[in-house]
Amino acid sequence: MSKVHVFNAGPCLLPQIAIDNSIEALKDFKGTGVSLISISHRTKEWESVMDECRALWKELLNIPDDYEVVFLGGGASLQFLYVAMNFLEKKAAYLDTGVWAHKALKEAQGLGEAYAIACSKDRNYCYIPKGFDIPSDLDYLHITTNNTIYGTEIKTDIDCPVPLIADMSSDILSRKVDVSKYAMIYGGAQKNAGPAGVAFVIVRKDMLGRVSRYIPTMLDYRTHIDKGSMFNTPPVFSIFVMNETLKWLKGIGGVEAIHAIDEKKAATLYAEIDRNSMFRGTADKEDRSIMNVCFVMAEGREALQDEFLAFAKERGMVGIKGHRSVGGFRASLYNACTQEDVEALVACMQEFEKLHI
Ligand SMILES: Cc1ncc(COP(=O)(O)O)c(C=O)c1O
Repeated sequence: MSKVHVFNAGPCLLPQIAIDNSIEALKDFKGTGVSLISISHRTKEWESVMDECRALWKELLNIPDDYEVVFLGGGASLQFLYVAMNFLEKKAAYLDTGVWAHKALKEAQGLGEAYAIACSKDRNYCYIPKGFDIPSDLDYLHITTNNTIYGTEIKTDIDCPVPLIADMSSDILSRKVDVSKYAMIYGGAQKNAGPAGVAFVIVRKDMLGRVSRYIPTMLDYRTHIDKGSMFNTPPVFSIFVMNETLKWLKGIGGVEAIHAIDEKKAATLYAEIDRNSMFRGTADKEDRSIMNVCFVMAEGREALQDEFLAFAKERGMVGIKGHRSVGGFRASLYNACTQEDVEALVACMQEFEKLHI
């Protein structure tokens, strides 16, 4: 098979070593003679994977001791409900920066008073709203640090007078985060952290037990914290691959090292989008994501969109079609995507331009 360059938005490219080690574990998990998907999660061999994975999260993100790390099923979407269930007592605010932020807000509105503190829908979510006041009587403020569909990103840890909760599904582990500025960070693993099937939750312990409502057992973070994320059968395969992905990240130098690589990849592609007369970027420059690069055909060139998609596909580019709600193109440059992948896409864009000018 000829070389492909995978720019899928999630599930996405994962490090080859993580895939290879997972294949081996599927055949024989840690020399037990039993496949990873057949072992009991109550064995010491499995518990060592859980322990290692939790420890790697703590090490890679420098998570302070007063936080818990939990692994759960149901993806980030179920966390939208968990957040409100566990933390919404009187009132919460959400920064509405796109589809995922909006879905998180909707779940909270089903349980209590929750509203959009600011919104960038007026320009199809192509920027991050700024300069809004945060009232001090909120239970929490919820943000989505990287807006996977629109290619915008909050790239710094904001100062927040109320507990700050962040959906970091699509930019976790791409930069150093000051975890102490957040009451909670969560996301689906299926971008930088591993495969689909598991969500990560990093929660400050003093946030627990603040609400008066009954919380169903499975939706109560304390249930899963008390049982080390094994109250019920954990998604062993997904956690194993996540652990291998984190081991790879640690091996290449951790989040600071990958951040430099990620920034270079994004800069390379944005530079081409800005230079190439066939394309234009859609997100405001100051808010451009380094994970999801969104672009469209330049004005007057719109009719060539499908032709470019076919042209790129022929040259091995996979997953560059924009999200169905915005159209155009999106190249997701998550951690396992390489500079070489990006340069292949850039070469393809340049070739396409030569054909048409
Ligand atoms: C920022 C963000 N939040 C939430 C989700 C939903 O994640 P899941 O499919 O794990 O529920 C996604 C999915 O792409 C996402 O990009």
